[in-house]
Amino acid sequence: MDRRTFLTLAALSSLAAACGTGSSAGSPSPVVALDFRNPLRVPPLLHPRPDKDGVRRFDLSMQAGRTPILPGKQTPTWGFNGAFLGPTLRADRGDKVEMAVRNRLPEVSTVHWHGMRLPARMDGGPHQPIEPGDTWTPHWTIDQPAATSWYHPHPHGATAQHVYRGLAGMFIIDDDLDLDLPSDYGVDDVPLILQDKRFAADGSFDGDPLKGTFGILGDHVLVNGSHNPHLNVTTERVRFRVLNGSNARMYTLGFADKRRFHVIATDGGLLGAPVEVEAFALTPGERAEIIVTFTPGEQVVLRSTDNGVDIGEGDFDLLKLIAAADLKPAPALPAHLAPLAAITAPAGAKVRRFKLSGHDAINGKPMDMARIDEVVPAGALEIWEIENNVYSHNFHIHEVAFQVLDMDGSAPPAYATGYKDTVYVPAKSVVRLAVQFGRFTDPVSPYMYHCHILRHEDSGMMGQFVIVEPGTESRANLTLPTHPGH
Ligand code: C2O
Ligand code: CU
Ligand code: CU
Repeated sequence: MDRRTFLTLAALSSLAAACGTGSSAGSPSPVVALDFRNPLRVPPLLHPRPDKDGVRRFDLSMQAGRTPILPGKQTPTWGFNGAFLGPTLRADRGDKVEMAVRNRLPEVSTVHWHGMRLPARMDGGPHQPIEPGDTWTPHWTIDQPAATSWYHPHPHGATAQHVYRGLAGMFIIDDDLDLDLPSDYGVDDVPLILQDKRFAADGSFDGDPLKGTFGILGDHVLVNGSHNPHLNVTTERVRFRVLNGSNARMYTLGFADKRRFHVIATDGGLLGAPVEVEAFALTPGERAEIIVTFTPGEQVVLRSTDNGVDIGEGDFDLLKLIAAADLKPAPALPAHLAPLAAITAPAGAKVRRFKLSGHDAINGKPMDMARIDEVVPAGALEIWEIENNVYSHNFHIHEVAFQVLDMDGSAPPAYATGYKDTVYVPAKSVVRLAVQFGRFTDPVSPYMYHCHILRHEDSGMMGQFVIVEPGTESRANLTLPTHPGH
């Protein structure tokens, strides 16, 4: 195995690098040590407004406030329906949803439904700005497998700042696959939103998310906005829905006692079967669902181990789990999960190549709101090849589901073989994806693809594609009017 392949595999599986059982062992990290004194916050579930027509209407208000995060300090923060982060939205496959997103912030923003398959005008990218005081009301029918997705602002050039201040929330999709998985929200089905921050002496968030190679790498890692957290576990098995909502930090997640656990889902939904691991990697924007088994009375720490990527920074703790003396019994983990049909590009499928250069361009071009980079026929199955000649990046495509074909010629780890929308692209590697595009056509409303390190996204490592009626690709206009949708 050559060094490059080894690094890729080590970064992803982390098995080679995991070591030590406490914060003192393993590689030193600039992240501050914890004593787990604070109860973990769990974002509230947002209940839709009751409606006779069967549409689930969710009200979201983007607002500024103050949040106690560090002892004795109030941090100025932004949130949805509260001072910090956002409520968890939950809907079923087949539901019609309508959002009313009110912008009570002093500046223009947007809200993007990351992981959602929907028409481009509902996507909430940079082309759907919400002016201060305005309300945006996108609507769509949920039509995709059960998954953990999320929502966050996407204003061009200001995504890093808006997310860093606290605008992010989870969006859970359920379907009617009759699986016996933990699903009691906040009890045995628990969101974990990982975000790292820097603090100034007065408690305010510090640092410039648009400076340096990666922007901010915080020395305090928050889980659901809590610093130094613990969670009381009351059931034998818990499903954690983990979201890397950090601006740049990459995590390799596992437990201090190196227990094994199961990954059951990634970005786009459930895997075919649970995959047993000791650790798994999560880069910004990615999600994974894991099932962890506890014994009565035990305590164990969730941590990130040195993952050999440029954005890992040693071993550090995240959350202590404290199991009750009596745990409610849980059903066994199902042997099979979803009927995962492979995304297969047909022979002769279109191959598109994307070269990530520096931190501000794709194929040598920085993002231009008025330029369409790619025109894709509806329902296409294509191969996208992402080449990275520099330091760590990742790659996210709006609207699609993809599967990773290979990373530098090697198969991805088993837990990363399911449906995804965001993928790690290690330094000096090529990642190939089989991509399934959606069926909503709109030649003047683009979707985005970009590095989800927000410093890179904001500085131009992003491009735009439209989905059009098959056969009309060559007629698509590659220049957009300056104010589409207005
Ligand atoms: Cu989560 Cu285009 O983003
Ligand atoms: Cu997205
Ligand atoms: Cu990047």
